[in-house]
Amino acid sequence: MAERAGSPPRRVGLLGGGVIGGGWAARFLLNGVDVRLFDPDPEAARRVEAMLANARRAYRKLTLAPLPAEGELTLVTSVEEAVATVDFVQESVPEREEVKRALLAAACRAADPGVVICSSTSGLLPSDLQADMERPERLAVGPPFNPVYLLPLVEVCGGERTSPATLQRAADVYRSVAMWPLVLRREVEGFVADRLLEALWREALWLVNDDVATVEEIDDAIRYGAGLRWSFMGTFLTYRIAGGEAGMRHFMAQFGPTLRLPWTKLTDVPELTDTLLDKIVEQSDAQAAGRSIRELEELRDDCLVAVMQGLRTSRFGAGAVLDDYERALFDAGHPTVMGDDDDLSRPLRLHSARVLPEWVDYNGHAHESRYLHVFGDASDAFLRYVGIDAAHLAAGGSYYTVETHLSFLREASAGERLHVTTQVLGFDEKRLHLFHELYRSEGDVLLATAEQMFVHVDTAEGRARPAQPEVLARIAKLAAAHTALPRPERAGRAIGISGATVR
Ligand SMILES: NC(=O)c1ccc[n+]([C@@H]2O[C@H](COP(=O)([O-])OP(=O)(O)OC[C@H]3O[C@@H](n4cnc5c(N)ncnc54)[C@H](O)[C@@H]3O)[C@@H](O)[C@H]2O)c1
Repeated sequence: MAERAGSPPRRVGLLGGGVIGGGWAARFLLNGVDVRLFDPDPEAARRVEAMLANARRAYRKLTLAPLPAEGELTLVTSVEEAVATVDFVQESVPEREEVKRALLAAACRAADPGVVICSSTSGLLPSDLQADMERPERLAVGPPFNPVYLLPLVEVCGGERTSPATLQRAADVYRSVAMWPLVLRREVEGFVADRLLEALWREALWLVNDDVATVEEIDDAIRYGAGLRWSFMGTFLTYRIAGGEAGMRHFMAQFGPTLRLPWTKLTDVPELTDTLLDKIVEQSDAQAAGRSIRELEELRDDCLVAVMQGLRTSRFGAGAVLDDYERALFDAGHPTVMGDDDDLSRPLRLHSARVLPEWVDYNGHAHESRYLHVFGDASDAFLRYVGIDAAHLAAGGSYYTVETHLSFLREASAGERLHVTTQVLGFDEKRLHLFHELYRSEGDVLLATAEQMFVHVDTAEGRARPAQPEVLARIAKLAAAHTALPRPERAGRAIGISGATVR
């Protein structure tokens, strides 16, 4: 069972803004966290912006849930400026022990005493990295996966002097930005994930070296078979199934002996001669077929999004992480239940959205179905506001939409911010009559209206039944306040051409 994620930190300090540091910046910023980043390379700002552009594009495809307002990125010129006044620090400089040790010691001196400092190292031991720190108990390693803004895994590993509270805090921070922290039982070179990858990588290099397969054929051997399974089950659960009904013991009995055959050369490393390097580079260039790194990154991100969304349908593995993330975003983006002092004298403004590029059709404007989508989300926000929460749904009661009348007044273009206002036109113990107005937020321009009728149903029996008294009481209070409002001009309209008759 996944632990619930808490609130993200307010501000983090990042040391290094390369492939990994830029990915951390994007993940934190898109989750509403301010970032202070130090990287002495003058090119770092451009690289981080490019990574952020990739990440924004990927998140737009990943979810329709309302993301928080983006955090603010500040590039600073020293370690001290990056780590002072932040709640968490992540170091992602090159994998050189002496560089990391000096930097981590400096960060430790400058950061507030309670701040946890993590390193993205792929394989250096935390006991070594914390050796020069004045407060070594606050150092843990947290190696992520590339692209950091999309892949949920981050291993969390402490050294000899790391405190348990540091491990807990690091895991909490990562969880709060929709990651899956895997807290390791003890430190080991390469940690768990990189040890596994290294074994595969070493064997792959042997196969190229010995001319058994090209780099493309090796990638095909992974992506058309085991790679697909690995995205959700991993090796052990997959092999358990492979053992059939007799299970894991049978599988081990059947395939155990092959472990002793000369199938792999795991501990031997091929010598990286110029000939082998030339061969790998040449074959890799042929495989890329002229596509730029940017193009390959976009392809990779689109495929990752597709896999994660597919897995969300089964709420399994990374799909469960995505599902929990979206629920949390919707919870944060929609108001909680009606408060005693809420101003009910105007139509409620409960839902905001923005027009995603994918909503736009061949006319260059949002497709008509997206208007209903936004109104549907506004109705959900309204129902939450009057107390239809998870407990209510679990108890078998819900409002179903039985009729919608949409009027399209103006187009909506990609990127525009939208909001919906909602007025109660009527209700009884089983029915609810709402009127929504959809606005372009800039300039408050009315784009569409929707009049909707809902019936409260017993979801188990599939029949109408009265809503809970406390829900009805809130609707009654709203309806009483909204009777003072003018009736919307388009309420109760029927479709027709006045004066025209059909023969
Ligand atoms: N690339 C991966 O797939 C991957 C995956 C997991 C972990 N890691 C780990 O993440 C770390 C960073 O790797 P990367 O791939 O992002 O490397 P990178 O070379 O892309 O980026 C390193 C960045 O650190 C900056 N830098 C150098 N010295 C610095 C200093 N003293 N202070 C601040 N910034 C400094 C460089 O200018 C550069 O922008 C390494 O420890 C690596 O092992 C990498």
